[in-house]
Amino acid sequence: EKGGYDYFMLKEIAEQPKAVADTLLGRIDANGRLTLDEVRIPDAVLRETDKIVIVACGTAFHAGMIAKYAIEHWTRIPCEVELASEFRYRDPILNPRTLVVAISQSGETMDTLMALRHAREQGSKVLAICNTNGSTIPRESDAVLYTHAGPEVAVASTKAFLTQLVACYLVALYLGQVRGTKWGDEITSVIQELADISRQVDQVLETMEPVRELARSLKDKNTVLFLGRHVGYPVALEGALKLKELAYMHAEGFAAGELKHGPIALIEDDLPVVVVVPSPRGRSVLHDKIVSNIQEIRARGARTIVIAEEGDEAVVPYADHLIRIPATPVLLQPLVSTVPLQVFACELATARGNEVDQPRNLAKSVTVE
Ligand code: F6R
Repeated sequence: EKGGYDYFMLKEIAEQPKAVADTLLGRIDANGRLTLDEVRIPDAVLRETDKIVIVACGTAFHAGMIAKYAIEHWTRIPCEVELASEFRYRDPILNPRTLVVAISQSGETMDTLMALRHAREQGSKVLAICNTNGSTIPRESDAVLYTHAGPEVAVASTKAFLTQLVACYLVALYLGQVRGTKWGDEITSVIQELADISRQVDQVLETMEPVRELARSLKDKNTVLFLGRHVGYPVALEGALKLKELAYMHAEGFAAGELKHGPIALIEDDLPVVVVVPSPRGRSVLHDKIVSNIQEIRARGARTIVIAEEGDEAVVPYADHLIRIPATPVLLQPLVSTVPLQVFACELATARGNEVDQPRNLAKSVTVE
C-alpha cells in the first residue's frame, strides 16, 4: 500500500500534484468561474459577511494563516486566524455576520470541533474545509468544502496541507467573485493559474535530489531556523513544524522583519537558516528587504539555504544553497515553496534514524482537548 515507497510520507509527498488537481476538479467552469455549489451557504449570506474567522490547529493553522492574506486581499473582508485551542476561551466577538472557517484534515480534532461549536452557539455560520468525508467537523458545520487529498496516513501532514491551501484560495476567490471587488481581473487570472499549479508542484518534485543531499549533510546539527515574509512566513512556520515533529530538532520559524527585534541574536557560525524568498515581481519591496536580511545573517556566519523563484538572480551571491521553485502568482507561492521543506524534513528524519510515518509522542488525529 506504500506503492513502492519506503514511507507513507514519501508517497503522500509524491501524490501532491494529483491531490491539488483533484481538489480543483469540477470547481472551475468552462468560463473560468468558480462554481462552489456544494457550499450551501447562500451567496446572499456571503455578501452580508463582514468578518471571517479561521480556526485550526498545527499544519491546518498554517494553511489558515496563508488564507488570511488571500481573503483580505481579494475580498477586503477583515479576516482573523486563531489557534482553535485558544479561540473559545477568550470570549471572541461573533455574530450571524461572521463566517467561521474551520480547517481540519481528519475532521475529528477536538480543539477545532469545540471552537466551531462555540461559533455556532453565537449564531455564526461555519464552513468546514475537511479531507475526511462524513467526519464530525463537517457534520456539525453549516457547509463543507472537501479537499480531495485522499487518505493521509503519515502523521505529518503534507498533501492535506497543499489541498487545504487550494480550498482556502477557492473560498477567497469565490467570495471575491460573489461580492465583486476591484480585483476582478486578477481573480480571473489567478483562477487560470491555479489550474497550472499541479504541474508546477510536479516540477518541484523532479528537482529534489540536491535538497535531500543537503538534508543528509545537516543531520548532526541541533538547530535550524526558517525565515519568511508575507505568505512565506507561515511557510517558514510549517517548515519548522515539520522538522520538529519528524527530525526532533530545534526548529523555529520567524517573520524575517522580526529578525532585528531579537532572533538575529541566535545567528552563529554555520547555523543553517532556510529563507523563503517572496517573488521579485508583485510585492517586490518585500523581496528587496528579504535579500538584505539574507545578507545580514550571512555576514554573521549563517549558512543560508535560500528558496527562490526561477530567474531571481538577486539572491544568488548570498545563497550557500539555492533551491529553485517555479514562478507563481505572489499569493500562490506557498503551494510550491512548501514542498522542498517537506522533503527536507523527511530526509533529515530518515538520516537521523527516526520513524518517519509515526513520530514519537504524536497521533494522527487528536481527539482530546
Ligand atoms: C502536523 C500535523 C498536525 C495537524 C493538526 C490538525 O504535520 O499533522 O499539526 O495538522 O493536528 O489536524 P487536523 O487537520 O486533522 O485537524
